[in-house]
Amino acid sequence: MIQPVIDNHLDPTWIERALQADVSEGLLMSPKELPPKWFYDDRGSELFEQITHLPDYYPTRREREILEREVDVIAERSGADTVVELGSGTSEKTRIVLDALAATGRLERYVPFDNSEATLMHAADALAKAYEGLSVHGVVGDFEYHLNHIPVGGCRMYLMLGGTIGNFLPADRKKFLAALANTMVAGDTLLMGFDLLKDRRRLIAAYDDPEGITAAFNRNVLAVINHRLDADFVLEQFEHEAHFDTGDECIEMWLCSTRDQQVTIGKLGMEVGFGAGERMRTEVSAKFRPERIGPELFAVGLVTEQLWTDAQGDFALSLARRVER
Ligand code: SAH
Ligand code: TRP
Repeated sequence: MIQPVIDNHLDPTWIERALQADVSEGLLMSPKELPPKWFYDDRGSELFEQITHLPDYYPTRREREILEREVDVIAERSGADTVVELGSGTSEKTRIVLDALAATGRLERYVPFDNSEATLMHAADALAKAYEGLSVHGVVGDFEYHLNHIPVGGCRMYLMLGGTIGNFLPADRKKFLAALANTMVAGDTLLMGFDLLKDRRRLIAAYDDPEGITAAFNRNVLAVINHRLDADFVLEQFEHEAHFDTGDECIEMWLCSTRDQQVTIGKLGMEVGFGAGERMRTEVSAKFRPERIGPELFAVGLVTEQLWTDAQGDFALSLARRVER
């Protein structure tokens, strides 16, 4: 096996500074909000992995279904020898793509990119072992800041799966897509997963399981802040809520304070009050209309070659190509 190479752009000082900025800004807003990227410490990544197996959390299964059905076409069209995956997590579904590229005889390199260091290291190691001759070059970074550190060279297919693109607010999504398209050269492709708009009851069920795993995942952001910023959030005093915003067509995750309480954030020298019933937004998950995906990518210079959905029309996967500027 070829030993993976890992670049780490997230030293503890960087993380602490970025988290401090996000938390101090977010807690002064009305309503309060926290940015979602902080969900995924080791415990958060493990909880997300459990979410992907929940009976009502359909996105992972639907995306896998499309990948399995279309992967040979995707591998052929992409012409890729390198796969760069943003928010790679455990890289489980990635294996479907790597298998198909390996079968074409072109597969050379895999670049997983994630801000969860332990999860990335584990996945990098597992894939280097599973694919003889594959060079794995992992990047531990924040894809809102470190896209310019993606290794260049080869014919690259970018992957962003799991509907992660939906976790940006619309304005941030546009910025992110533009920055992403900028790191691509003519011929590079982007395979991206989009969760689609559907019946609101099914959407809410996917984000509010009876076992409380999603609730634990949502509250975990408070544990991350307690740990990193020396804060004293009492997790049990915040309740998980999932709402569907019909106007913005997105699921919103909230944490609702069950009582009047004061929270101290040691490293910010900050005291924050929460009223009973006060809600703080922790995540959005946009639900897309298929006909809007192509135009949104086109706006940043990416031309959609094909858009596939699963048999039920729950989830979409698009393959787009960077065109000459
Ligand atoms: N691709 C996997 C995981 C999706 S969960 C799947 O489809 O199942 C989203 C992943 O993105 C997590 O692994 C999380 O750690 C990562 N992530 C979230 N925000 C990030 C950021 N700002 N920079 C880098 N990675 C991020
Ligand atoms: N990208 C996933 C999604 O939007 C992330 C996710 C799943 C999530 N379940 C969650 C985020 C619960 C916050 C809370 O589906």
